[in-house]
Amino acid sequence: MNMPNMQEAKIRTKNPVKHIEQDLKLEEKFKGKKYFLRTYGCQMNVHDSEEIRRYLELLGFEGTEVLEEADIVVLNTCAIRENAHDKVFGFLGRCKHIKRDKPELIVAIGGCMSQEESVANEIKNKHPYVDIVFGTHNINELPKMILECNHKQNINVYSYEGNVYENIEYSRDSKITAWVNIMYGCDKFCTYCIVPYTRGKQRSRKIDKILEEVQTLKEEGYQEITLLGQNVNAYGKDLEDNVDFATLLEETAKIGIPRIRFVTSHPWDFTDEMIDLIAKYPNIMPYIHLPLQSGSNNILKLMGRRYTKEEYLELFHKIKEKIPNVAVTTDIIVGFPNESEQDFLDTLEVANECKYDGAFTFIYSPREGTPASKIKDSVSLKEKEERLQKLNVLVNEYSLENNKKYINRVENVLILGESEKDKNKVYGYTETMKLVNVKADNSVIGKIVPVLITDAKSFSLDGIIN
Ligand code: SAH
Ligand code: SF4
Ligand code: F3S
Repeated sequence: MNMPNMQEAKIRTKNPVKHIEQDLKLEEKFKGKKYFLRTYGCQMNVHDSEEIRRYLELLGFEGTEVLEEADIVVLNTCAIRENAHDKVFGFLGRCKHIKRDKPELIVAIGGCMSQEESVANEIKNKHPYVDIVFGTHNINELPKMILECNHKQNINVYSYEGNVYENIEYSRDSKITAWVNIMYGCDKFCTYCIVPYTRGKQRSRKIDKILEEVQTLKEEGYQEITLLGQNVNAYGKDLEDNVDFATLLEETAKIGIPRIRFVTSHPWDFTDEMIDLIAKYPNIMPYIHLPLQSGSNNILKLMGRRYTKEEYLELFHKIKEKIPNVAVTTDIIVGFPNESEQDFLDTLEVANECKYDGAFTFIYSPREGTPASKIKDSVSLKEKEERLQKLNVLVNEYSLENNKKYINRVENVLILGESEKDKNKVYGYTETMKLVNVKADNSVIGKIVPVLITDAKSFSLDGIIN
């Protein structure tokens, strides 16, 4: 896939923020102005938005939730499925409308969609009111682009042979839980997936830099960190340091932060050593997101997933056996091109066997530039929707069944905040990543407390402090 405005990528070791900060002392151009930041997509984007927010705040902007109040709108986009495209362009329509009466409004769009050549062309040809287009590899250039904005469209997107960034500063969403990016990009090239094109090939951060970040977060009082990557189990494979995810996981655990999580795990790179470590360290949480994608060997092969249904099940059962009380969730795609009824039944069979704690289910969406998008598909959308429906009924039943087992148990829950629905309640997560609404006042926020589980639904539990 060709990228717009291809530029030589650089390895960045300097701290971009420090340089920007110095410039800003002179500028402070946007003091008192407001930003509206909207994030689509996965945790990676959520974390990138924490970097974007830091830059906006350094420029002097303050946040607003009201679009009409904003002096700058930044959209951090996702390209994983087609509907993301429609959402973003729908939203841009609103910005265009506002800009008619407020021409000084800056509209900036970044994230995975910006890395798609067709999107950049669409913006260039049809959306001249978009001022700034930046990519996933050059978020650190956003402040400069904002400072230099003269309302002539500036499209500045790197190719996917991107950088490894260090010493990034974030304006984090939470003071209790934090994301720690351990790698950029993905090398797996599953045939349906756009991520390797929008995020580039896999580049792992050096282990000492990651551990330094975790140490700092511990000192700042964070209770939980999540090691973040598209395929965390492949961490280190691109480095010459002879480190892998097991090493990183163990070194992270030794730092002694109360809770460690990681997403996402690819079954192909999951080793026995990793399973043993998760079982051994009480501060590595017994929760694994293990995408299945399909239960049919034919489809798995066409997807380029590198495992068979049998290999997946062997890994799954090993995880269940070795890690006490572990919860496993998954991602499943239905309606991959030419998926037969039998292929779909194979997926249902695996779902029946694994009885997942939860599953994110999707209808396959062809993404331009990926190998799967070139396959001629004989299955109708209606058929795919029916399959999705059937699968959802099944996975929700198992979620509920699993959740019901928690009733009358006492679980350690990290309390994250006040419940939005009920002011007399707070919410948090069990070690196994179950959402719990707890009857308590907000003095427990930020603490890990024992909670007696009193009721269970498909997507959450209720409890009282024990
Ligand atoms: N790196 C992760 C997930 C990345 S995207 C992994 O490999 O597991 C999150 C999920 O979106 C995927 O697991 C997959 O189920 C879904 N997905 C990715 N591409 C898709 C597509 N073209 N159509 C439908 N779902 C897709
Ligand atoms: Fe996409 Fe596959 Fe990489 Fe996940 S592992 S990001 S599904 S290419
Ligand atoms: Fe979407 Fe990009 Fe994440 S495509 S799912 S935001 S890596």
